[in-house]
Amino acid sequence: MPAEPTEKPTIHVYKRLPATVEAALSERYRTTFGDDETLYTASEILARAEGCDALVVTLLEKLTADVIAWLPKTVRMVATCSVGTDHIDLAAAKSRGLVVTNTPGAVVEATADIAFLLILAATRRASEGEAMVRTDTWPGWRPTQLLGMGLQGRRLGLVGFGGIGQAVARRALAFGMEVHWHGPRPKSGPDLPKATYHARLEDLLAVSDVLSLHAPSGPETRNLVNAETLAQLPPGAVVVNTARGDLVDDDALITALKGGRLMAAGLDVYRGEPALDPRYRSLPNVALLPHLGTATLETRTGMGMLCVENLDAFFEGREPPNRVA
Ligand code: DGY
Repeated sequence: MPAEPTEKPTIHVYKRLPATVEAALSERYRTTFGDDETLYTASEILARAEGCDALVVTLLEKLTADVIAWLPKTVRMVATCSVGTDHIDLAAAKSRGLVVTNTPGAVVEATADIAFLLILAATRRASEGEAMVRTDTWPGWRPTQLLGMGLQGRRLGLVGFGGIGQAVARRALAFGMEVHWHGPRPKSGPDLPKATYHARLEDLLAVSDVLSLHAPSGPETRNLVNAETLAQLPPGAVVVNTARGDLVDDDALITALKGGRLMAAGLDVYRGEPALDPRYRSLPNVALLPHLGTATLETRTGMGMLCVENLDAFFEGREPPNRVA
């Protein structure tokens, strides 16, 4: 009698992914897909997981300790199509024996590009300039109009020096900036971009004409940019956030932007996004983007294919390469 074909594992993918990723998933697994219009509630997340062996989630699906506790017992693995894992209670996942993977390598260059785009937009007052052109209020070129901050010789302070922080450092060096960074411990190695390490955050802040955040969200980094830390930056500094919104105390940042303590800010991520503190919208000296960090076809495809690699490893009994729980 011919051998029964092995049943493919069943996977639910909560948001639509680039076509090549969906094709690769559907070739290997029995797949069902969610939609992009719905922000799933906890009970919808659980209902969609029914009968699944694994889930592919994004940062939009909040896997709290409660959701993880109620997941169907068949679900043994979750691949998140993101480097950030703050939407998943990793401790709860570990104690349930749920394997979780993320997509670190794939996000680096695209996110560094957006960080640098915001550094340039904020220092060169691009949003103000664009508004002038769009609203037909540009009086024409003037010698002292919209003067910004030149980057050459300025000091860039990076909070976090992982893949993205290092990629931003490389761009900054090419622009003639001096790079400084802070993180839990120093790093060494021949491939690291030239940068000065500061063990204490306050020492980094003191030398940061431009401060750019590249640390994960967590209890140690929540509200890292607050009234006290902003006061330690050089007057007229610029703050850029492409990491997570909760690293910034919005009240403190808005006060510093309004009062002139900061020259400008550039934000790609927001606490409670897509809602954001509405005061940002009317501030001329902040460049605002809608969480575009990884938004290139190549990057989102790379992230999705990392999910596929991790799923394949898991179901073939190998250690998933990007396991975080
Ligand atoms: C991530 O991968 O965590 C990013 O925020 C998605 O753009």
